[in-house]
Amino acid sequence: VVGAGVALAFAGCGLVGPTPVSTIGEVDFDTPLPVPPIAESTVAADGTRVFSLEARAGTTEFAPGVPSETWGFDGAHLGPTIIAERGERIRVDVANALDEPTTVHWHGMHLPAAMDGGPHQMVDPGETWSPEWEVDQEAATLWYHPHPHGETEQHVARGLAGMLLVRDDVEAALPLPREYGVDDLPVIVQDAAFTDDGRLESSARGFAGRMGDELVVNGARAPFTDVDDELVRLRLLNASTARTYAFGWEDGRTIDVIATDGGLLEASVALDRVVLSPGERAEVLVRMTPGEELRLHSVMTPEAAGLKPPIAAMNGATDAFDVLELRAAETLDPAPDLPERLRELPEVAEGDVATTRTFRLDGFEINGGTMRMDHVDETVTVDTTERWIVENAGEMPHSFHVHDVQFRIAAIDAAPPPAEFAGWKDTILARPGSRYELILRFEDHADPDTPYMYHCHLLQHEDQGMMGQFVVVAPGQRATMTEETNDHD
Ligand code: C2O
Ligand code: CU
Repeated sequence: VVGAGVALAFAGCGLVGPTPVSTIGEVDFDTPLPVPPIAESTVAADGTRVFSLEARAGTTEFAPGVPSETWGFDGAHLGPTIIAERGERIRVDVANALDEPTTVHWHGMHLPAAMDGGPHQMVDPGETWSPEWEVDQEAATLWYHPHPHGETEQHVARGLAGMLLVRDDVEAALPLPREYGVDDLPVIVQDAAFTDDGRLESSARGFAGRMGDELVVNGARAPFTDVDDELVRLRLLNASTARTYAFGWEDGRTIDVIATDGGLLEASVALDRVVLSPGERAEVLVRMTPGEELRLHSVMTPEAAGLKPPIAAMNGATDAFDVLELRAAETLDPAPDLPERLRELPEVAEGDVATTRTFRLDGFEINGGTMRMDHVDETVTVDTTERWIVENAGEMPHSFHVHDVQFRIAAIDAAPPPAEFAGWKDTILARPGSRYELILRFEDHADPDTPYMYHCHLLQHEDQGMMGQFVVVAPGQRATMTEETNDHD
């Protein structure tokens, strides 16, 4: 109903129209896959590992000889990969060399709200912000990106994003590929639009947000990578502003998922496709045969997105892309078989739930409202477990992300979640008409003054205010900012 009118208006503006995009088999994959460098660090006298990042403007050639204006951390586009060990204290000196304020948020990190890098921790041009915290969570593929209120889409689309890997003893004891850039590859997937001569277009706007008709992977169009190892680990990050992908292998072999947003699954899960909405990650393993060339692709379908036409077309849910080509050497370093069980996951602690809250997504609103910077929507008591019910009551898909915690999914539409949703998550695709029951445990860092965010990770939705704030307080404490009058049980 709404859809038809919007589809017409949308087609009329001549951008990414409802005509499905398909680049499968259309492109030669002849650019070597860039691998973001590992962020350098020093160790301060008190043992804190210190990293630094500088947000700056530069130019990037997405087509040879054609410069595009982009932003990056320590370079012209994207940023270095931060690698931290569980248990260590880290500090990141974030310098802003742009001519406008930005922030850096550590997506998926459990840390004090004042270090979170949300819209309350703006870094002005010329300033340096130095958050520090103890890394206390499982080995996982996290990431970092700006979070200035109303400007996040633009800052991320210009290139401000990077990976943040946490390592720990549990993961290190498993026979998994973990040589960064060799058999353990960061794969940052973003869509982009280019002019005919190959300049990045920043203005590709659609109903769902900014959508491009091409992909860039680690900042390169149509990349390939040579592999010398039989077993390869890809850390897939959907760092796109609005697009959801359904990644799979072109020859139809299963895509084997070993980890989700917040850490390892109990066992590898073999899927036809792994669906990632903006902000989500998955670690997958692939066993190569000597000499083969294998493409990772994404074939979204309305079913995978839970959408009906024309909403599906407007959200890219009819689009298909080649993503990355792996080229195996004639001789491959053999890899051991993986243990059947990777780790034990704790039970989903539904019995411990002290408070249940409902988040109703409709239009660009959550619970009928939009983001107010000076207003706390939810007050959570530290050391309690909560159930957050996320209901998508609208027609559009959303991507629901919660700061500070990794949660578990107790149910999707009243049924237990499939195996790939059984582990730690911080972001989920919320399909229209669906209901998600999340179990979250809030620990540490009680601070009545500083809120964390929950929001839609379709960045235009976030920028339009599809975001709310929660504080974690000590028992009996109140949030400093105005609280919602909403009563929770
Ligand atoms: Cu990845 Cu609040 O963001
Ligand atoms: Cu949304």
